[in-house]
Amino acid sequence: MNIEKGRCLGLVGESGCGKSTLGRMISGMERPDTGSVLLDGLDIYNKPSREIRALRREIQIVFQDSMASVDPRMNADAIISEPLINFYGLKGQCLDDRVSELLDMVCLPDGDKTKYPFQFSGGQLQRVCIARALASEPSFIVLDEPLSSLDVSVQAQILNLLSDVKKATDVSYLLISHDLEAVYYLSDSICVMYAGMVMESIEDIGDFYKLKHPYSLKLLSLRGKCGADSTDIENVSDSEDRIKGCPYYSRCPKHSEQCKNALPSLEKIEEGHYIRCYNY
Ligand SMILES: Nc1ncnc2c1ncn2[C@@H]1O[C@H](COP(=O)(O)OP(=O)(O)OP(=O)(O)O)[C@@H](O)[C@H]1O
Ligand SMILES: [Mg+2]
Repeated sequence: MNIEKGRCLGLVGESGCGKSTLGRMISGMERPDTGSVLLDGLDIYNKPSREIRALRREIQIVFQDSMASVDPRMNADAIISEPLINFYGLKGQCLDDRVSELLDMVCLPDGDKTKYPFQFSGGQLQRVCIARALASEPSFIVLDEPLSSLDVSVQAQILNLLSDVKKATDVSYLLISHDLEAVYYLSDSICVMYAGMVMESIEDIGDFYKLKHPYSLKLLSLRGKCGADSTDIENVSDSEDRIKGCPYYSRCPKHSEQCKNALPSLEKIEEGHYIRCYNY
């Protein structure tokens, strides 16, 4: 996977396929067993510890469950101030002004500084979390399903906000989401993941309609049908076949003998379009 400056990669895939795990690895929270994570060409897990701190400033994460990602005893002021104090040593009026600026950026009134998490709605608290992520002026933010606990109108507001921030600050995003519409709206490229593997990726979101992996097509067909995907999850077995061959084998309408025996590699089929399938 490759995410360029100021761009957003949308990562989709079913529950449990490893999206959050990947997000945590990319944000420096969980060391990968294999592979590497490069930021500006440098391996983030192969740095002296003093540089790790600088890295924490560069990479931020916004979690799905905003209530669980803040300390309930801290008010919005304290939540947003923490990174400003830790990374920049701000205090007094400077600190206060910067917190106001960040609240304004996420369209919350200055008076909200004194509010505690339980006094915010889900959408408002997610804005506080976005303000906290923006406080350290990161170059990269992992957005792990930032919309899924919110209602549709608030989702649209947060999406617009994230889009405005991207334009204004040139920050890069990894947007993890089940919502293909949200991914289409905010992302510049898309990656479809299944059982911990990239099944298909498209570098230009404008070519979204070219998705052709059987699993991608399944995702597209299930758009807006809440819960429909769970019906065939039972069919997934952790058999030898699954491990040896394609992990989507047992659910795939296009499977062949070859799929059972060997895992297809991720192949480039045209400029900016990669797919892991023998029979697309
Ligand atoms: N700390 C952990 N210890 C053991 N297994 C874990 C841990 N965290 C995640 N897993 C397992 O790893 C797999 C991938 O989990 P992950 O949270 O990355 O999925 P996900 O794609 O983000 O799912 P969702 O869409 O439901 O958030 C799951 O099977 C999960 O149970
Ligand atoms: Mg997750």
